[in-house]
Amino acid sequence: MSLTSGSAALTVGRVVNDLANRPAVRRPRPALRRFWDSTIGKKIVMAISGALLLAFAFAHMVGNLKTFFGAEDLNSYAHWLRTIGEPVLHYAWFLWIQRVVLLIALVLHVTAAVQLVRRDRRARPVRYVHRRPVRATFAVRTMRWGGATLALFVVWHILDFTVGTVNRDFVAGDPYHNLVADFRVWWVNLIYLAALAMLGLHIHHGFASAARTLGVTSARRERAIKIFGSGMAVVVAGGYALVPVAVMTGLVH
Ligand code: HEM
Repeated sequence: MSLTSGSAALTVGRVVNDLANRPAVRRPRPALRRFWDSTIGKKIVMAISGALLLAFAFAHMVGNLKTFFGAEDLNSYAHWLRTIGEPVLHYAWFLWIQRVVLLIALVLHVTAAVQLVRRDRRARPVRYVHRRPVRATFAVRTMRWGGATLALFVVWHILDFTVGTVNRDFVAGDPYHNLVADFRVWWVNLIYLAALAMLGLHIHHGFASAARTLGVTSARRERAIKIFGSGMAVVVAGGYALVPVAVMTGLVH
């Protein structure tokens, strides 16, 4: 082998080596990916999905109050929910669209929450020497554990009133009968009232943290949002609680 072909082979080898060791050219991440990967992005997703879930919770609570007008009113309201959008939409299509939208909102809300908790723990593997203020710790705990409990409650609630598998006396198409039969059982009331207390706390703390996320810095505005959040928490949780309490006390039967 001649000297020149030897050095040519050496050069080729070097070039190949250089190419292999060159740091990979990073393709810019799409804007949506960058948004989701950022902490503020996840918090915004939590705020928007939370607002959507709250809107549903409020509308559902108002609808439930039809119970006080009797079986016919509540049951025909439940039937009407399935006819929304007709004749453009078929029977119950609106309900299915709503289910899909709510499920997407719930998945986004929970995923962002879990990822933010993990990120928070990774950023601070050693606990604070000076503990967080007791009030902040309580709020964080109720948001995390309360959120998980609420997700479990919703699954149980759907099995109770929509599917009917955990309801002792389920009659399809007769929500009035189903809820009166259900709330005659003391421990069912206990589950509902505990879940509603969690829901109230979740809304109350959720509003305060959404205000911080969305950059509300003025003390006056922050106070106004907190008052609105607390009012919403009382109205939604209290409004729902009226139904089991009315059945328990015999006002609705
Ligand atoms: C005392 C409180 C509550 C009562 C009496 C109640 C009543 C009902 C009833 C009767 C149904 C079946 C409706 C139908 O088939 O047309 C239902 C479904 C449902 N409820 Fe509740 N509910 C309560 C609290 C809650 C809470 C706190 C949440 C969540 C925050 C919730 C979420 C849902 C969902 C997601 C469905 C399924 C809707 C569907 O089928 O698409 N409910 N509820």
